[in-house]
Amino acid sequence: MIDEKLRFTPNDLIENRYRIYNGDCIEVLKKIPKKSVDLIFADPPYNLQLKNELYRPNQTKADGVVDDWDKFDTNEQYDKFTKNWLEACREVMNDEATIWVIGSYHNIFRVGKIMMDLGFWILNDVQWHKSNPMPNFRGVRFTNATETMIWAKKSETQKKYTFNHNVMKQLNGGKQMTSVWNIALCTGHERIKGDDGKKAHSTQKPEELLKRVILSSSKEHDIVLDPFSGSGTTCAVAKKLNRKAIGIEKEIEYIEISKQRLAQIDTDDYKDIQLKEPPKEALMRVSMDSLVSKNYFDIGQTIFTKNKKHFAKVLENGTIQNDVGIGSIHQIGAKILQSESCNGWMFWCYDDDGKSKLIDEKRKEYRVAYAG
Ligand SMILES: C[S@@+](CC[C@H](N)C(=O)[O-])C[C@H]1O[C@@H](n2cnc3c(N)ncnc32)[C@H](O)[C@@H]1O
Repeated sequence: MIDEKLRFTPNDLIENRYRIYNGDCIEVLKKIPKKSVDLIFADPPYNLQLKNELYRPNQTKADGVVDDWDKFDTNEQYDKFTKNWLEACREVMNDEATIWVIGSYHNIFRVGKIMMDLGFWILNDVQWHKSNPMPNFRGVRFTNATETMIWAKKSETQKKYTFNHNVMKQLNGGKQMTSVWNIALCTGHERIKGDDGKKAHSTQKPEELLKRVILSSSKEHDIVLDPFSGSGTTCAVAKKLNRKAIGIEKEIEYIEISKQRLAQIDTDDYKDIQLKEPPKEALMRVSMDSLVSKNYFDIGQTIFTKNKKHFAKVLENGTIQNDVGIGSIHQIGAKILQSESCNGWMFWCYDDDGKSKLIDEKRKEYRVAYAG
């Protein structure tokens, strides 16, 4: 049953940045304005079709996903459901939005085919490599240690979408992040437990996974939507990262858990994980050559070191010349310093109406003027 009071209006999110709706996602999605959402993360039922309980070698029962929400009579029924919710998601995505869908080998291939048939365009298949997977108790096949996340845009022709390449690089110690993410299962204090001490939700995802998803493909204040929000992981991480969030969940018990979880989060406590993509102009490569050709420096102009002990003339191709030779601002600087390297932008100055200014100031001006 959908709570009619929870009809979505954009004002809802202005006054209240985080909403969790109780109901079937296909029905609720129809009430959300078209093209209003920036990012979707979906963790749909897996259609595991577990026929028997799962036991460890010591005969204790293992936690498989045996919930009613995961049960479908046939694959056809599952496919129809998948097509319907994906279509409903597509309607609410704006023209620059992307969608992530996570699944295991049981369902992800069916989901992927349906996404492609609907016209979604796959950008990546990110592998979540679980560093602490559940063992294969019977030893009859490999321990399954991955889940796949399909990241897609709405269509092949969609030109724009958010990808915060530099944020991900920063998260990965300065190296480009690959599509294999090593992240532990959600355990320990992060795992929400009921009063009986048992897991409150059988498939609660680790926050680190959602952190990467949201940081990579949305901006601050964007609207992130999760149509199968379960224990509220996506909304919780969205809140921490200063995004707006909409969750949809059909089981009321999970709604209560999620609301409590969200209420406990103070966004200000998470400032240090709210990484932002540097502005375009800060990333633009600029050469001395381009500064000369655009008249930021005159040919023959004198530049000098901060202590005014060394001087050099700017040449036509952006190199500089003085008594130590001809070379780039960095090479001549390094020779003067008798060092392996020198950041010429921070070493040389120019005269600006009687004041010495670092030549880096000219680079900044150029970036502002020419960054697209
Ligand atoms: C795989 S779990 C998601 C877990 C979630 N990512 C988390 O971290 O807690 C799928 C959730 O979707 C819910 N669900 C299943 N069918 C649904 C539907 N048609 N509409 C809304 N929610 C649904 C289930 O109750 C379940 O909580």
